[in-house]
Amino acid sequence: MSGTNGGGSITVTLDGTNKSTRLPLIPGSIGPQVADIRKLYDSVGVFTYDPGYGNTASCESKITYIDGDAGILLHRGYPIEQLAEHSNFLEVAYLLLNGDLPTPKQKAEFEMGVLRHNMVHEQLRSFYNGFRRDAHPMAVICGVVGALSAFYHDSLDINNADHRRIAAFRLIAKVPTIAAWAYKYSIGQPFMYPRNNLGYAENFLYMMGAVPPEEYKLNPVLARAMDRILILHADHEQNASTSTVRLAGSTGANPFACIAAGIASLWGPAHGGANEAVLKMLGEIGHVSNIKSFIEKVKDKNSNVRLMGFGHRVYKNYDPRAKIMAQTCHEVLEDLGIKDDPLLDLAMELEKIALDDEYFVSRKLYPNVDFYSGIILKAMGFPTSMFTVLFAVARTVGWISQWKEQVEDPSQRIGRPRQIYTGAVQRNFVPLAQRG
Ligand code: ACO
Repeated sequence: MSGTNGGGSITVTLDGTNKSTRLPLIPGSIGPQVADIRKLYDSVGVFTYDPGYGNTASCESKITYIDGDAGILLHRGYPIEQLAEHSNFLEVAYLLLNGDLPTPKQKAEFEMGVLRHNMVHEQLRSFYNGFRRDAHPMAVICGVVGALSAFYHDSLDINNADHRRIAAFRLIAKVPTIAAWAYKYSIGQPFMYPRNNLGYAENFLYMMGAVPPEEYKLNPVLARAMDRILILHADHEQNASTSTVRLAGSTGANPFACIAAGIASLWGPAHGGANEAVLKMLGEIGHVSNIKSFIEKVKDKNSNVRLMGFGHRVYKNYDPRAKIMAQTCHEVLEDLGIKDDPLLDLAMELEKIALDDEYFVSRKLYPNVDFYSGIILKAMGFPTSMFTVLFAVARTVGWISQWKEQVEDPSQRIGRPRQIYTGAVQRNFVPLAQRG
């Protein structure tokens, strides 16, 4: 291998043959160099094998950087800690989409753009009646967000920059409304329309919690906590759901369809469904005295039990979002006057024991963002089925920013992985009468 962080190449030689090739090394602005294998098959006739894509960069991106060993997360270069402390969700949304923090004028225009799109086509309301009342809200939002492409024909042309801009506004603005209505539908309450005198997080809390006969009283501490939760979930580079959005987007599919695909991918317990799974797990453990036996079960390879909210494909250190989430959790519980929350006590004890245990230490398993978010959301009164929905509301901005970046990148091609075929080799068809 030759070259340092400024480029260079590596030479790959196939043992036992005279075939070799030079792979250029592509430097990022930070982070490891990446070997460009695009010509590998043409020059030496081999593919690479990387299930789970742990060693494969699928795209070039300027949006989010993670150093998993150091526990660093940057959006457009800004550390997540600074954004969570000094910014708000819509400003972060602007940053992710456009690359820089907005000027006051740009910020006001962006906020106005989002507000102007927060209602959904009235006919979309009737979609909800097609779902069972006990449907999981992720199932509902996956369907309704996908259906946006049947309503907003004037923002479907992915090659038109104006269409892309309006689709981004529509998604960021409408997904909270769609999500809150999924909740209202499940409990049989009237849908609440968004209010333009409220901020983004406030509006979401209002649409979730308000009922027509009563004045809704917003709690500023909870609104701030909600805003922070949204910031912490806004983007996370090429995770499973974002890669799903990009893969769907690589075919030229419209943005609403792509985001619906991202929602489906987020739903799984190994990804966005983990916050719901953490609460379920804490409920099953039940009491601090049961932690030891639970941890033993987690360590038993035959049990298939995982410590939910722990571990991450990229972070091999404390997830920086989890630290902020833990602090937010304490603020919320204090504001709500929850002194001794048994779930929090259980979570803290579990965390302490796991962080001390050789099994978790040696595998570099630390709490991730979902370990504490479920506890906050539960304290705020959200039903567990809405936890992943909330994640989807926040991540919509990351998905649409990544989708936009991909569509605007001339080097992107349709996503089409290869495989190692291990099935039957070619054989002749046997007529039915001759089989068995
Ligand atoms: N509990 C117990 N053991 C674990 C856990 C866990 N939560 N996570 C990983 N491990 C173990 C694995 O069993 C494996 O052990 P081994 O080397 O002895 O076989 C080792 O740690 C490496 O694990 P992998 O499965 O290879 O790690 P991978 O990067 O594929 O998985 C994932 C990452 C899916 C997040 C995993 O850690 C997990 O399932 N965590 C629990 C679910 C969760 O919290 N997901 C949220 C992720 S963050 C997000 O999406 C916002």
